[in-house]
Amino acid sequence: MRLARTITTLSTPTLAVLLTISALPSRAQQPPPSAPDSEQLDVGQLFATTCGWCHSAGGRAAGKGPQLMDTKRDDDFLRIRIKNGKEGAMPAFGAVFNDAQIDEIIKYIRALKPSEG
Ligand code: HEC
Repeated sequence: MRLARTITTLSTPTLAVLLTISALPSRAQQPPPSAPDSEQLDVGQLFATTCGWCHSAGGRAAGKGPQLMDTKRDDDFLRIRIKNGKEGAMPAFGAVFNDAQIDEIIKYIRALKPSEG
């Protein structure tokens, strides 16, 4: 009788732990999608494709979006605009790039020079 009670009091929490552990591997199928964090971003390529739809000539000229070269905006403004976009004007890229990659983009914009020729 005493033994039976011991087993009963032990088994419920033990069972709960076992259930939790056995449930974990099946639930952890895939990591959630996220930006590749250590991947080096080719900003020139990015502007040749994604951003270039609206920021022409690699950001050197206006298109549907403004010219980015020689922008008078500060880094925070550029970062927030890239992350959040602007409704009806520019898509948000906050889910696409991590902070380090956005730093790369800002560095690229600051380094833009008129293309030669
Ligand atoms: C669908 C068109 C479109 C695409 C694609 C686009 N932009 Fe823009 N972008 C805009 C428009 C329009 C604005 C101006 C928004 C406003 O009215 O303030 C803007 C503004 C900006 C600004 C702020 C510049 C300033 O002086 O106000 C930055 C920085 C910027 N875009 C970077 C990017 C980057 C980087 C990409 C690619 C990852 C990108 N944009 C893709 C349309 C676009």
